[in-house]
Amino acid sequence: MPKNIQAVRGMSDRLPADQLWFDWILRQFRRKAEVFNFNFIETPTVEFAALFDRSVGKVTDIVEKEMFEVNRLNKSVNVDQTDTDTMVLRPEGTAPIARAYIENGMNSLPQPVMLAYASKMYRYDRPQKGRLREFNQIGIEIIGDRHPINDALAILVAWQVLDSLRLRKFCVLEINTIGDVACKPKITKAVQDYFKQYSKHLCTDCQNRIKTQPLRILDCKNENCQAVVEGAPQLVDLVCPECNSHFQAVLEYLDELDIPYELNPRLVRGLDYYTRTTFEIRLREDERRQNALGGGGRYDELMKILGGKDAPGIGWALGVERIIEALKENKITPPPAINPAVMAIQIGERARKLMIKVVATLAKRGIKVATYLSKDILKSQLKTADKLNVRWALIVGQKEAYDQTVIIRNLEDRSQETVPLEKIDQAIIKRIKK
Ligand code: HAM
Repeated sequence: MPKNIQAVRGMSDRLPADQLWFDWILRQFRRKAEVFNFNFIETPTVEFAALFDRSVGKVTDIVEKEMFEVNRLNKSVNVDQTDTDTMVLRPEGTAPIARAYIENGMNSLPQPVMLAYASKMYRYDRPQKGRLREFNQIGIEIIGDRHPINDALAILVAWQVLDSLRLRKFCVLEINTIGDVACKPKITKAVQDYFKQYSKHLCTDCQNRIKTQPLRILDCKNENCQAVVEGAPQLVDLVCPECNSHFQAVLEYLDELDIPYELNPRLVRGLDYYTRTTFEIRLREDERRQNALGGGGRYDELMKILGGKDAPGIGWALGVERIIEALKENKITPPPAINPAVMAIQIGERARKLMIKVVATLAKRGIKVATYLSKDILKSQLKTADKLNVRWALIVGQKEAYDQTVIIRNLEDRSQETVPLEKIDQAIIKRIKK
């Protein structure tokens, strides 16, 4: 196949076999979100680039290196002259949801507003294990309340989602606080001053970060940088008393819930909108912290940055493809798909006309039927039924088509019975129930 019509690198087809895993994760997530009374939201795939510049941050990897710009092919066809701002595929879900919260006046609803989403995200990164250019996130956002109980509630939901997937025991929750609008500048300055002294020992990226994003050096994976980071000041010692008591309260609530956590004083995360609590969930075996299953934190300034009224928030997102990998690595399998119990077999055109009516009746009653309606040969259809491991074959030949009847054959003991068309659903239901 020519290269330029193959799937785009880092974007893959989800085939039916993987769909089973995907559906299971989404089902468990939806159930959990619903019992905690979250409402689902879906924002557009395309947003203006400015949204992410302002929120995720202009000098973050996501915005600087990883955004897909959306272009129309024929720019000479201009329907709307004002439509000139750069548009991108969303790289994450929090900023679009914050935009939607402001734009739809959600601040007039009872606060906090609790939103959940399951959406595709796009980041132009080097594709590798756990790193795709198109991937799926499930996530929640609790917006409009500053109280630390919301941080614990958000984490509790993530923990229960992982528990429902039997993954929780393989996971570690790491948590930190990074200060708020009042103390973050002071903290940033202290960290910057520290790294300035050791600039020579840092990787080139981090040398640049000293000026632009000194806090990000703290979670650089480079070994040389890590050695310098060892002696860096700890954020929890630098935050203001208000941030500190917020953090202590979050930890106390987690203790109440028996949710174990590890304090990670280096956890700052790669998005600029975070204030106060930050956390990540990773597999215990992923000691080098390469592929977190999920991450989140508080973003108390985000609404104001985007031009809305003050509305603090907390949330997280888990990567669905990374969860699938983790499930497979830990030999956890989703419940198997329900096999059809019945297969429709027809011989000839007249039979086909009757069979499509039978299938319509059964589908209406919610009975799953395997169909190969264009086929005509009994023997090969019985072979297929054997492969599919179905228990019952519905057979319509010429005679049955004429009589408006259907043969129900038990493929295990080879017994069979002929029933009138109008009784077929009851006859099948009776057998399946047995
Ligand atoms: P994030 O840490 O950038 O946070 O992404 C969350 C999760 O999405 C990651 O832990 C990972 O599982 C998955 N993920 C990220 N990039 C990729 C990729 N290239 N390929 C596969 N999976 C990936 C956020 O996106 C924030 N919006 C989370 C949040 C919600 N914070 C507050 N509310």
